[in-house]
This record gives sequence, structure tokens and C-alpha cells, in this order.
Amino acid sequence: MKIAVAGTGYVGLVTGVVFADLGNEVACVDIDPVKVDAINKGQSPIYEPGLDEMLQRNLEEERIRATTDLEGATRETEVIFICVGTPPTDTGEPDLRYVDEAAATIGRALNGYKIIVNKSTVPVGTGDRVRRIIEQHRAEPHEFDVVSNPEFLREGSAIHDTLNPDRIVIGADNARAAMKIVELYAPLERPMLITNLATAEIIKYASNTFLALKISYINAIADLCERTGADVVQVAKAMGYDQRIGHAFLQAGLGFGGSCFPKDVQAFMHTVQRYQLDPTLYQQILAINNARPVQMVERVRERLGGLEGRTVGLLGLAFKPNTDDIREARALELIKLLLQAGATVKAYDPVAMPRVQPLHPEVVYCRNAYEVAENADALVLVTEWNEFRQLNFERIRNAMRQPNLFDGRNLYDPQRMRKLGFYYYGVGRAADNGEFKAML
Ligand code: UGA
Repeated sequence: MKIAVAGTGYVGLVTGVVFADLGNEVACVDIDPVKVDAINKGQSPIYEPGLDEMLQRNLEEERIRATTDLEGATRETEVIFICVGTPPTDTGEPDLRYVDEAAATIGRALNGYKIIVNKSTVPVGTGDRVRRIIEQHRAEPHEFDVVSNPEFLREGSAIHDTLNPDRIVIGADNARAAMKIVELYAPLERPMLITNLATAEIIKYASNTFLALKISYINAIADLCERTGADVVQVAKAMGYDQRIGHAFLQAGLGFGGSCFPKDVQAFMHTVQRYQLDPTLYQQILAINNARPVQMVERVRERLGGLEGRTVGLLGLAFKPNTDDIREARALELIKLLLQAGATVKAYDPVAMPRVQPLHPEVVYCRNAYEVAENADALVLVTEWNEFRQLNFERIRNAMRQPNLFDGRNLYDPQRMRKLGFYYYGVGRAADNGEFKAML
């Protein structure tokens, strides 16, 4: 099938490359000529494991190309995916400007029946809006259909997630359009749900908000654990064995960041308000999450008896491992709070440092975790990169001015860390039940 994909961010580029790999002919479109040039040279503008290799293979086999010309790409294809960004506005509502622009351009270029598939995360009703814009801009009354096909891939495992989605949601108003998209996804052999447009649009937000809710929920439980001598890791583990609950997204810690959860919960909150529904649930999800870095800095401050003149090292800056994305990263919030309190901040991240450096030139960037530890009064594990799992902790301890370890992702075993001579703080892990554990 011939496909055009408008927008070469995470969703657009990965979708385009994977569809090409499945044998389709794909035009990736972006307004930014620098990105287009890079893609045509086989260099992905984003860091995503496995993406460069897959892109290069499909470029060599001429199944993919990048262009700035959306009109031309629309004329040559039957299915056009809209994967442009929907950044939050000041109020937290998504800015649909890029979706509108893409729809207008597609409308102008309409030269026969087309299916316009919206993959960008957009509020319920946007499919209808896209339809109206295309109708306004088409020169001749060519038929077209608008489909909603939300994307559920995660950064860091985007290729794997796109090839192995838990489900594929296709929201369409008629069978003709739905079947064409079913055909496109058929090679993946994954469960497909065909719904109307509004349902598909809500599925995306309802899913992301539920995952954010799980994280905030376990973080609220972590606070209670901390005050009662319980261990949230064990609470979450036991809860997760209940198949109705599951283990995923019950890791307490510094909370969620990234380009999706914070923005999507806010957007969903605006949607429910637009329909005169109570936003309290969504406000709470965000409030609990926003309090996480503040609370962590408080713990460090308490332990060090103040932050003025202290040196605090951060291990990890990206909003999660395996990405250089720092959007809404908890590290940024920590840096801000620590600097405000007069601390010196040192940091190391395997890939995200160049992105943080322009925002925070005052941070001391290091070559590895050991350099961060040198003369630090406290270390905070922010992003659970694999390379932080098996550090030489004796070396870390000896390098530090005071061996204080704050584990923002509950990555380490508290007993082991205490035995190694650290003061160890894990989120919601007040319990010191090592003796009991040894009996099991
Ligand atoms: C998220 C969803 O997981 C994807 O399904 C969705 O497609 C995507 O948003 C999107 O809407 O585009 P992503 O933001 O890439 O994906 O990252 P996640 O792996 O979901 O992690 C989000 C944040 O939650 C991270 O900061 C992570 O550290 C945090 N988290 C995750 C926790 O604090 N605890 C957990 O138990 C799990």
C-alpha cells in the first residue's frame, strides 16, 4: 500500500518506518527540512533503539523517503496518517494548530478517494473537526474518510511496541475505511477493535490517564507506607499478583514525566470540564505526581540539615531509561528545586546530558556515576538506566563526602545498601525488615 505519514516525531517516524518494513511504500512528511534531510540520509532525528537500522534498510530498498511536500505526498497516496504534535497550550489544552494545518493541506491536495488517519493524541471530536477542515479546503468534491487510530507505543521500546501492540484500535464511521486500515495492520496479527470515531479518541486518553492514575495511586500508598513502617515495593508486588490489578505501572518513586502522561491527563481534564463533568479525579492524579520531586528534595534537605552549600548528584536525567527525551523529566524539577535551595548539582546521564545542558548550564555534568559521586553529600537515582543497576558501590561510597543514597526509582535493595554503609532512602520503603526477609 502507498502511505503518507505527516509528522516525523516519535509516533510518525516509527509508524512510517515500521509500515515500510512490512512492505509498504511510505512517504514521511515533515515541515522541517533538516529532519527530512537527516531521515533521507538514514539518520533518525530521535534516539530510539533499533530505529536507525530499520530506517537505513528501508531506504536502501527504496520503500521509504522523506519529503517536506505534504500536498505531493497526499496526491500520490490513498492513506495519509496525521502524526503531528499536539503540544499543550498555557491552559493545558492541546494545541491543534498542526493537525488543522495538515488537514487543510490534505484537503487542498485531494485528487481522489483518500483515508485520513489520525494518530496524533487529540481530544474527542477532533476527527469531525478534521473532516470539516478537509471539506472546506478541497477544490473538488472527492470522497474521503477520517479514521482515528490511536498509538500506544512507548518511547524506548517504540519499534517493539509498534510491531507487537496489545491492541489496534480503529475508529471509523464506515466499513470501507475501517477495512482498509485493518488490511494495513493485518500482517501484525494482533487483536483489532473497530469502533466509532469518538470511542477510539477516548480510548487513547482513558488508557494513558488510567496508567497515570496507577502511578499516582501507588505513590499515594507509598506516602502511607513511609509513615507506617511498611514497604511499598512489597505492597505493590502483592497487589500485582491479583490478576485484576497486575504488576505493571505500580512502581512508586519520583512519578511520571514525558511528553504524554502529564499532558494527556491535563487535556482529558479539560475535556471532562467541557462536558460539565467533575475534574477532581484528574486534578488529584497530577497533584500527587507534582509533589514527588518536592518531597524527594525535602528528604535530602532533612538528611543533610539544609541544602545551602551541599553537593547533590543526580544519576539519570531522561524522563525514563532508553531515551534522551527530557520533556517533563523529573530531573528538571529536581535541578530547579536543588539550585533554588543553594545546592551544587552534579549529574550524569548516558544520553540526555546534551539536552539538559542548554537549559541548566550551572549543573556540573560528569562522565559517569563515579564522577558524580566525587565529593557529593547525597546521590539521587532519578532514571533507572541499566548501567546504574550494577555500580561498584564501594567505589561510590568512598568517593562521596557523605554516603547518602536517595533511590527515586526503588532500584536498589535497601538491606544491601545499608550493609555497604550507605544511608539509604527508598520511596515508601520505611520498613527495615531484612531479618524477616532472610527467614523466607
Ligand atoms: C506512554 C504510554 O505508556 C504509551 O502507551 C503511550 O503510547 C505514550 O505514553 C503516548 O501517549 O505516546 P511513554 O510516555 O513513552 O509512554 O512512557 P512510559 O513508559 O509509559 O513512562 C511514563 C512515565 O511514567 C515515566 O516517567 C516513568 O518513569 C513513569 N512510571 C512508569 C512510573 O513512575 N512508575 C511506573 O510504574 C511506570
